[in-house]
Amino acid sequence: MAARGKGFLLGIALVAGVFAASSLCANVTYDHRALVVDGERRVLVSGSIHYPRSTPEMWPDLIQKSKDGGLDVIETYVFWNIHEPVRNQYDFEGRKDLVKFVKTVAEAGLLVHLRIGPYVCAEWNYGGFPLWLHFIPGIQFRTNNEPFKTEMQRFTAKIVDMMKQEKLYASQGGPIILSQIENEYGNVASAYGSGAKPYINWAATMATSLDTGVPWVMCQQGDAPDPIINTCNGFYCDQFTPNSNTKPKMWTENWSGWVIYFGGAVPYRPAEDLAFAVARFFQRGGTFQNYYMYHGGTNFGRTTGGPFIATSYDYDAPIDEYGLVRQPKWGHLRDVHKAIKLCEDALLATDPAYPSLGPNLEATVYKTDTGLCAAFLANVGTSDTTVTFNGKSYQLPGWSVSILPDCKNVALNTAKVNSMSMIPTFVYESLSEVVDSSSTVNADWSWINEPVGISKDDSFVKPGLLEQINTTADSSDYLWYSLSTDITGEEPFLEDGSQAVLRVESLGHALHAFVNKKLAGSKAGNSDNPKIAVDIPVTLLTGKNTIDLLSLTVGLQNYGAFYDKTGAGITGPVKLKSSAGGSMIDLSSQQWTYQIGLQGEDKGLPSGSSSMWITKPSLPKTQPLTWYKKHK
Ligand code: GAL
Repeated sequence: MAARGKGFLLGIALVAGVFAASSLCANVTYDHRALVVDGERRVLVSGSIHYPRSTPEMWPDLIQKSKDGGLDVIETYVFWNIHEPVRNQYDFEGRKDLVKFVKTVAEAGLLVHLRIGPYVCAEWNYGGFPLWLHFIPGIQFRTNNEPFKTEMQRFTAKIVDMMKQEKLYASQGGPIILSQIENEYGNVASAYGSGAKPYINWAATMATSLDTGVPWVMCQQGDAPDPIINTCNGFYCDQFTPNSNTKPKMWTENWSGWVIYFGGAVPYRPAEDLAFAVARFFQRGGTFQNYYMYHGGTNFGRTTGGPFIATSYDYDAPIDEYGLVRQPKWGHLRDVHKAIKLCEDALLATDPAYPSLGPNLEATVYKTDTGLCAAFLANVGTSDTTVTFNGKSYQLPGWSVSILPDCKNVALNTAKVNSMSMIPTFVYESLSEVVDSSSTVNADWSWINEPVGISKDDSFVKPGLLEQINTTADSSDYLWYSLSTDITGEEPFLEDGSQAVLRVESLGHALHAFVNKKLAGSKAGNSDNPKIAVDIPVTLLTGKNTIDLLSLTVGLQNYGAFYDKTGAGITGPVKLKSSAGGSMIDLSSQQWTYQIGLQGEDKGLPSGSSSMWITKPSLPKTQPLTWYKKHK
């Protein structure tokens, strides 16, 4: 191994040379210990920032804060469905400007891990796949299927070509040192039967044939074919070993917190535990670890996956949703990174040795003949203890690692947080406070009514109840199912004098039921079970009655075998019956009128032109389907 000093100089040269007409090209390979950049092994600390989850104005600051926190690499997925919303029509503007994001990372002197996927999971709508993919005849996602493979290859090659054109691969003097193909396929492969193995072999060959000059990884893929590196995802990855002793131990997703679901708790992962997991990984031979997420950000617009994943993708990450450092997490991890970097020369020069320390304890020593020595002392039990190592006594709190860059002195213990704490306070005003307030006019708010039922020219009639995603192609979250039905008053289900009930069964995710244009009831599923089966008491008139059911999706499924086939919407049955049971009218196979989307969406709400918004005389308070806008 060459001396560390050279690596440092190379780092500076890389930064300076990123856009200098590829004057400096880094050769990235790997061996059993680490990624090797121009002949030199590297310890790399990485963090995920997904470019469309923040604004381009935020990127330089987020990246600088990542650098100040001790990161070497920024990881991002590439999100196919925002780049190709219509087949062969690409969009790389604004928050979707992938090239600009990669260049911004390079300008800060950091490296990039580009996880192309193009299946990404990521709590992203439909796992990142564009909806049009679903409508290609004969297509089967994520298996050995020609139509799917053709599209996956086309998009992957498109992204690789874009990066090459801009000279963004390290092999061209750019910042990208690594790429990922697929995502956690190993978790679901068995469900795809005999199609799985050929698919993953094809994906590996396809990716390597794109000739990026940098290694490819597959995460959670125990059978990743050579030369693809299989990597670990999880809260802890210290016990992970790659599938060949020629590959380094890499951690692509160290979950810094977790996903927020509507109605769920806001997840929290203590800084001490995250630091422990990181130190354990490097202790046990890891050399590349990535925080998923380092900055989670926001699921803007309709990009969130689901169902019921919240708009906030804060993730309890070291940099919060608003771009502020989260303390003490950010500061503590920065201290951990510094301590690990003090060990870097020893870590990279040799393999770990594990002298015995006692039950629930683990010592790891990286020692060379040339006098380098770094050690990690771990207490994986929950009680504090004192250990003797190399004749010296060390106090080890439960669930902690001490890092000794010279095998003698403790640079840091993961359970001892020296970084400052910070508790931000938020000032907010909720809509309910405003609409429930006694004042009749609120100058800050205006509104527009959304008609109940069919109001657009492009409505259509079909017999029976339609599955929602196949009907809307996800062009909107909303689908109206409308019906008019004659009631004589002599229907058997009304005769026993008990309450009439509208029974609606839906694959999800939420619905509002209107009878004779009045809201009769609402019901939502949840992330564990989006399905709905509800009995809504209704008042029916003699003569014509209208039934308008508004079905909503709240983020399309992004995970699981065959998740792309998960349906939504009111697939029935829909019935009128008596609360006492007995006879009923099944409306399911009648002629339903459908409307995709809301009138307000066609008008471009909530942005829309200001002349459309009503401010006087008062805000409607109990009127369902109202668009509200705050002016401040
Ligand atoms: C992983 C997946 C990521 C993300 C994460 C949870 O399994 O690879 O994309 O979904 O879970 O946040």
